Amino acid sequence: MLKTLQETVSWLRPQIPAETKIGIILGTGLGDLANTITDRKDIPYENIPHFPVSTVEGHSGRLIVGKLGGKPILAMQGRFHFYEGYDMKQVTFPVRVMQLLGFGYLFVSNAAGGMNSSFRIGDIMLIEDHINLFPEHPLRGKNHEELGTRFPDMSEAYDRQLRRLATTIAEENNIKLQYGTYIGLQGPTFETPAEYNWLRIIGGDAVGMSTVPEVIVAHHGGLKVLAFSIITDLGVLGKIVEVSHEEVQEAAKIAQPKMAFIMEEVIKHL
Ligand code: HPA
Repeated sequence: MLKTLQETVSWLRPQIPAETKIGIILGTGLGDLANTITDRKDIPYENIPHFPVSTVEGHSGRLIVGKLGGKPILAMQGRFHFYEGYDMKQVTFPVRVMQLLGFGYLFVSNAAGGMNSSFRIGDIMLIEDHINLFPEHPLRGKNHEELGTRFPDMSEAYDRQLRRLATTIAEENNIKLQYGTYIGLQGPTFETPAEYNWLRIIGGDAVGMSTVPEVIVAHHGGLKVLAFSIITDLGVLGKIVEVSHEEVQEAAKIAQPKMAFIMEEVIKHL
């Protein structure tokens, strides 16, 4: 894997300003943030050596090199989901690339179902912690010490200082933020009422099909993580209705300007 990674990194390095320290993963329905990126250059995934190519509707599949909040950033428009058939090394490959490019920060967004009964559709949840229910671990297999330690600590996977900064920015700008634990599982089915109920009982506030693998690898690789879920549907007993991918995308679209604003302001402060 290391050789493959190095080839990808060597190909990308000349196209990404050396001062770039911030990576962003744009989730389902959250690709519009890309429109606020300036000095923009797009690199379609299919042009990048060894990069997987994303397949799901609503995920366009490109790296965006540019500036956000006046700082150089690299954004992924479209991520790789385990349910698409990629293995965890593929799902997290772009995060390793960011690590080897010398990045220090990873910002992540996703669409998620809300189990916390105080959540509403369109709310933004700052992820404070996660529960990993994926059936495969991204760090399973031989550990490359140069990428990170064998048994990584996970007591603060979501950086406390970044969370504090995001909270302050939201408060100062009257943006309501929710806070909670994200549970990641494989999908592609949305949950049954019994599953939502169980996910709530075990400590989840929101549930989705991404983020956890990328965050584990980012944290293993020493990147500081800030992550947001947009609540696109409710897994609260009594409020559960049929969900579709289209509705998830629609709900995410409505909330995304607020999330984009917070991300941009956090970036300005780094
Ligand atoms: N469950 C899982 N993934 C999701 C959901 C959900 O309710 N909403 C958006 N992504």
